[in-house]
Amino acid sequence: MKIDILTLFPETFSYLNESIIGRAQKSGALEINVHDIRNYSTDKHKKCDDYPFGGGAGMVMMPQPVYDAINAIDPRHESIRIFTSPKGKTLSQGLVCELAKSKNLLILCGHYEGIDERIIELCIDLEVSIGDYVLTGGELPAMVITDAVSRYVSGVINENSLQEESFSSNLLEYPQYTRPQDFKGVKVPDVLLSGNHAEIEKWRKQKSLEITKKNRPDLLK
Ligand SMILES: C[S@@+](CC[C@H](N)C(=O)[O-])C[C@H]1O[C@@H](n2cnc3c(N)ncnc32)[C@H](O)[C@@H]1O
Repeated sequence: MKIDILTLFPETFSYLNESIIGRAQKSGALEINVHDIRNYSTDKHKKCDDYPFGGGAGMVMMPQPVYDAINAIDPRHESIRIFTSPKGKTLSQGLVCELAKSKNLLILCGHYEGIDERIIELCIDLEVSIGDYVLTGGELPAMVITDAVSRYVSGVINENSLQEESFSSNLLEYPQYTRPQDFKGVKVPDVLLSGNHAEIEKWRKQKSLEITKKNRPDLLK
């Protein structure tokens, strides 16, 4: 999968060069390109924001640099073009799986008070929110979308990891333990050391249900 990210702050994306996503880029399973919108500004000072018409606080991202960037990067509109926005559709595991079916994604990061609405009208397929709160910019949401979608791209993680994890069946995941068997007097549950796979399975199902009931009863409805 190829993911193009358009931002005014490209240096914030070094996170994607680390760990699993970094390795997936090196192996060729993923191609992530971070583009600096400022490079597309025709203004002699590379200005990319201006005051909002009608007044109000803050600055708005101007349409020209963003429009030119999108059309240079995805000239034939082969990508699903996403704008990160608190006004968008809330990201869920279902939406992540849908997006993972696409070969190309383009993610546009807003900043300041947001972006000139004509960019959304002219260029964007989908607005995506990562939750009901407001961040200073779309860079963290773009990383969240990229990370969540990448996990479903073949060759990025062991596909067995996707089978039983939280949200895969409307249940949150059971507790996980590793060595040592006794940590500060708290022991790993005996059943996990028993080697009895049927009992382990039963215990995990029970714990999943308990955790979901406690933290996210809405998932059980
Ligand atoms: C300060 S916010 C703008 C908020 C906007 N004035 C509003 O009230 O909807 C700046 C940018 O951060 C990004 N952003 C902030 N919160 C977000 C969220 N919950 N999900 C996705 N993107 C978000 C968007 O790209 C947004 O354009």
